[in-house]
Amino acid sequence: MRWLFAAALAVAAAGSLAFIQAQDGDGTQEGATQSASPAPTTIQPIAFPHNIHAGQDRIPCMYCHFAAERSVDAGIPPVRTCMGCHMIIGGSNERQQAEIAKVRDYFQRGEAIPWVRIYKVADHVHFPHMRHIAAGVDCTECHGEVKEMGVIEEVNQPLAMGWCVSCHKEREASTDCAACHY
Ligand code: HEC
Ligand code: HEC
Ligand code: HEC
Ligand code: HEC
Ligand code: HEC
Repeated sequence: MRWLFAAALAVAAAGSLAFIQAQDGDGTQEGATQSASPAPTTIQPIAFPHNIHAGQDRIPCMYCHFAAERSVDAGIPPVRTCMGCHMIIGGSNERQQAEIAKVRDYFQRGEAIPWVRIYKVADHVHFPHMRHIAAGVDCTECHGEVKEMGVIEEVNQPLAMGWCVSCHKEREASTDCAACHY
């Protein structure tokens, strides 16, 4: 994935404002999250690399997505979680320093970082993270090898009913309509 990351950075360095998360070169500027297929691209306000944090630095998923084992939503960490490290860690090159400076700016302004949501089921569907974590289903089964991703690549998207139900049949989990639908 390093080359993808590098390629995306090259584009960003070439003068575009935001970091461009391009999976296969069809990156568009807006509304990309809503268009489901085949490879949606998302521009995040800060170029947050999972491969550095969860991969190279081995920070556990749950350090940041701490709600996953006890609530419906896994949650995105508040900026103060970032500041625990980035008060001190400023980045080792200009590009990193520029991205980390943005983190510090959000913190100083007391603003939440406006991360763009990627995985989302329809409003009539109920998806409880904690039930899956408790049953031992690994993050990778649904989200892929996140710790190798410079930018989140969307796997199993769109989150279709057939995908949920086939795993539920395999693992003898509930296939009652009412388990997943309100
Ligand atoms: C240092 C904090 C941190 C760690 C560690 C971390 N994440 Fe994240 N994660 C984030 C942030 C910030 C975002 C939002 C930005 C983005 O989408 O890249 C995010 C986004 C995500 C998303 C997409 C959420 C959406 O919008 O749908 C998934 C899936 C995810 N992380 C899974 C993981 C997994 C699996 C691990 C462990 C291998 C992990 N994360 C480790 C901070 C972290
Ligand atoms: C446990 C410590 C830790 C936490 C928590 C943490 N980071 Fe980092 N982050 C690092 C380290 C270490 C680096 C690598 C810095 C280096 O190589 O000089 C880094 C690098 C970065 C970079 C630059 C990486 C690049 O190559 O572009 C960004 C941007 C960043 N972090 C954002 C965040 C955000 C946003 C959060 C909160 C969601 C966060 N970090 C939480 C330790 C942390
Ligand atoms: C059985 C599949 C599955 C597993 C296992 C799973 N997720 Fe998810 N994840 C989803 C689905 C489906 C969504 C969309 C949920 C929604 O829209 O309510 C999602 C959404 C997310 C989000 C978006 C924000 C939020 O609050 O939900 C993050 C972050 C995330 N997952 C991280 C993780 C992490 C970290 C793990 C492992 C600890 C994990 N997920 C395990 C399927 C899964
Ligand atoms: C990779 C396998 C897998 C996938 C994919 C998966 N699930 Fe599950 N699901 C499970 C397992 C295992 C359980 C736990 C059953 C238990 O607790 O006994 C579970 C439990 C649940 C429950 C609680 C059921 C109850 O008995 O109350 C709901 C709701 C649910 N899943 C919804 C979903 C939805 C919605 C999706 C798709 C967006 C999905 N799941 C995708 C494996 C999966
Ligand atoms: C394991 C979870 C799960 C179970 C069990 C389940 N569904 Fe679904 N269902 C979903 C998901 C996920 C979607 C996709 C929502 C989307 O497209 O965003 C969906 C979509 C649908 C839709 C389409 C709605 C739309 O937005 O177009 C209907 C209708 C539906 N389900 C009915 C049922 C019925 C009837 C049953 C029982 C026989 C059932 N579902 C069982 C998860 C489930």
